[in-house]
Amino acid sequence: IPSNAQHLRPVRGAQQQQQARQAPLVAMATAVKELPTQPIEGQKTGTSGLRKKTNVFMGPNYLANWVQSLFNALGAEIKGKTLCLGGDGRYFGKEASQIIIKLAAGNGFSKVVVGQNAIMATPAMSALIRRKKHYGGIIMSASHNPGGPEGDFGIKFNYTSGEPAPESITDKIYGETQKVSTLKMADMPDVDLNKIGSSKFGDFELEVIDPVEDYMAQLKEVFDFEALKKFVARKDFKMIFDAMHAVTGPYATRILVQELGAPASTVKDGVSSPDFNGGHPDPNLTYAKELVDIMWGANAPTFGAASDGDGDRNMILGNGFFVTPSDSVAMIAANASCIPYFKGGLKGVARSMPTSAALDRVAKGLNLPYFETPTGWKFFCNLMDAGKCSICGEESFGTGGDHIREKDGLFAVLAWLSILAAKNANVPEGGKVVGVKDVALEHWNKFGRNFFSRYDYEEVATDAANKVMAQVADVISKSPKGTKMGDFTLDFADNFEYVDPIDGSKASKQGLRFVFTDGSRIIFRLSGTGSSGATIRMYIEQYSNDPAKYEEDAQKALAPIIKLALELSQLPQLTGRDKPTVIT
Ligand code: G6P
Ligand code: ZN
Repeated sequence: IPSNAQHLRPVRGAQQQQQARQAPLVAMATAVKELPTQPIEGQKTGTSGLRKKTNVFMGPNYLANWVQSLFNALGAEIKGKTLCLGGDGRYFGKEASQIIIKLAAGNGFSKVVVGQNAIMATPAMSALIRRKKHYGGIIMSASHNPGGPEGDFGIKFNYTSGEPAPESITDKIYGETQKVSTLKMADMPDVDLNKIGSSKFGDFELEVIDPVEDYMAQLKEVFDFEALKKFVARKDFKMIFDAMHAVTGPYATRILVQELGAPASTVKDGVSSPDFNGGHPDPNLTYAKELVDIMWGANAPTFGAASDGDGDRNMILGNGFFVTPSDSVAMIAANASCIPYFKGGLKGVARSMPTSAALDRVAKGLNLPYFETPTGWKFFCNLMDAGKCSICGEESFGTGGDHIREKDGLFAVLAWLSILAAKNANVPEGGKVVGVKDVALEHWNKFGRNFFSRYDYEEVATDAANKVMAQVADVISKSPKGTKMGDFTLDFADNFEYVDPIDGSKASKQGLRFVFTDGSRIIFRLSGTGSSGATIRMYIEQYSNDPAKYEEDAQKALAPIIKLALELSQLPQLTGRDKPTVIT
């Protein structure tokens, strides 16, 4: 193993630093070891980076190969730049950080900024990169997938405007993983990730920072913390936030409890754990069941919310009431004037294709440009960078704004708090508090209701999943405009394709869809984020402007169109599944 410079110890004291600065350049360069390696199969970067079982990531060179490939893909531009690092606190994150730091130093980054104890929520990473104008950041997370030795680990890269790496970079990384031959690792000791502050290793600097600070500063520029604080202090208002033992624990405690003055009991399961206490940190009605039980129980709080492993997803609940994410983004957009950051008006709004068209109705009502993008947050980022989109969201529990370039769980929570604060401004304390359901009803009465549901069939054999998609594609190919299907008349059916209005790039095969003349839709997609087998997602939407129906249960309202979708796809027969794993 060639090593072209001598081992350098960390330089800590000021005097030693002074000496180091005066030393000849050659001695200042951090020693780099070049370790031979071989490509490892299957390191393809999906919608949100690379996700695999933790023990796969812990295998020889698995993580290092991917990180080296990322640096190879980025090329000469990383020299002398600052890389940010952190993750959702899951098992293996601290060990992974040590490897990543050595590779970053060995590949020419002059500095790594890492969250204390390797913690950094995904939206916080985006805020950090943008606010401090850093080059980019690596997030160690498998989002909402379970963690621990038996769970998942993951890694993703965010680029200079704080956005998830665009496909042009992820494709390149994959290419590099197939030919990577040398790992360039700085010859330096493991670093102390617990102690906030800077240390030098030759000419390489490592800074450990408080992972909440920049993010909170960002949110303070978006929301009126004083007004929220006043609202939270109302005796007749109670809220609960479920951090699901994941990364938002420390963030929610700082923001909701310390800054806004909510009681400590507001944050449920706020102590992060490396395996999320054995849970599945996905904020939906199935996996956030404890929160659901509280919100449907006696003396339920007015407002409940949860976030996922890495803090970018959110679920919004009222007292005995679920806000489907497609509605949540539409309601935030419709009430954006309650949020100081959006006071000047919205530039435009955007949603992913499977997300319901509730947001489109708001856009039409407010005369705003609106966009329909493929699934994946990165598609919103071009629009935001071009100043065309202020608020966007996805049915997959993602909501955000152009204050950063990631979806943002606590942003959604503070947005809803802002709406509730505004709606209750004239309600005397002790009167009837306007709750989440009241906001929803008011919205539906104005715009109509887009009933929406998603059925997830997890861990289906890849073969069977492909058969379902082939069957649906076959129906599409045989169904011209005007075809009668159940009670519906087909407007068109296709495999969704998107041409980015900013850079002209094309994304095809983004989901099979049937769009009916009344705006109802049936959509089938294979998940891009699972880690074993295939996950089929079936999305169902139907619009109603009949006020008598607004309070109806979505499953009941959608029953006929769900039946139609299951029939035309032959999903039960082809997969052997008589019911989905998760219903949203
Ligand atoms: C991640 C991305 C989202 C995307 C979701 C889709 O969470 O950050 O932008 O909507 O994956 O997941 P799926 O499993 O449906 O491909
Ligand atoms: Zn996530």
